[in-house]
Amino acid sequence: MNDVLHDLFERNRRWAAATEAREPGFFTRLAQQQNPRYMWIGCADSRVPANEITGLDPGEVFVHRNVANVVVHSDLNALSTIQFAVEHLKVEHIMVVGHYGCAGVRAAMRGIRVGLADNWLRHVHDVRLRHRRRLDHLPPDQQEDILCEMNVIEQVGNVALSTVVQDAWARGQPLAVHGWVYGLKDGLLKNLDVTMHRPDSVVPVFSAALKRYPRRAVASGEGEGEGDADIAFGAGPLGH
Ligand code: CO
Repeated sequence: MNDVLHDLFERNRRWAAATEAREPGFFTRLAQQQNPRYMWIGCADSRVPANEITGLDPGEVFVHRNVANVVVHSDLNALSTIQFAVEHLKVEHIMVVGHYGCAGVRAAMRGIRVGLADNWLRHVHDVRLRHRRRLDHLPPDQQEDILCEMNVIEQVGNVALSTVVQDAWARGQPLAVHGWVYGLKDGLLKNLDVTMHRPDSVVPVFSAALKRYPRRAVASGEGEGEGDADIAFGAGPLGH
């Protein structure tokens, strides 16, 4: 065990030396202040490291990660991190980044019990229930990919609706919230085109995004009757 950890310190020394050799003064400069333009809200999955994926150095991206990249209105951890990023670091872009093959999303999709995290993943399960008519008619593996995307779209809305982001927009601070998904199989980021950059962009962006996921065709007499209920539900609180 100690050998394994010793190796990490060894790697750390090599990395620090190589970084300093490549860019003399790198660490002394960063120690003075950080000035990132980006905030990354992503999954805790070890295969989705923000800096490596985007090719950014330390100091260039402010990161918050949790299981299944969820932003909940009562999560003081996420909200405090967003507040610090927006009000103190003045980041210009917040990206919520999901990833295909997310175990948290899969558990929520399949109803798999994993333990304490079930309670956290309930938020993803809620996304699934809200949009079940856009999901249930798809093959299982596709359902999980689409739920990964829908979860990102919902979380982008949650970030945009946070008091922190709403207040920033009210001040005229330039700030955009984006939704991306990362592919474990090819290492590539996909832009979901759900960028929200001002209060009146939230509802139209959210609605347009969901319409990209068709509902199953309804047999005559089955009575659809609820229109775009999940859009209306999702957009309802956004319209203040
Ligand atoms: Co994940």
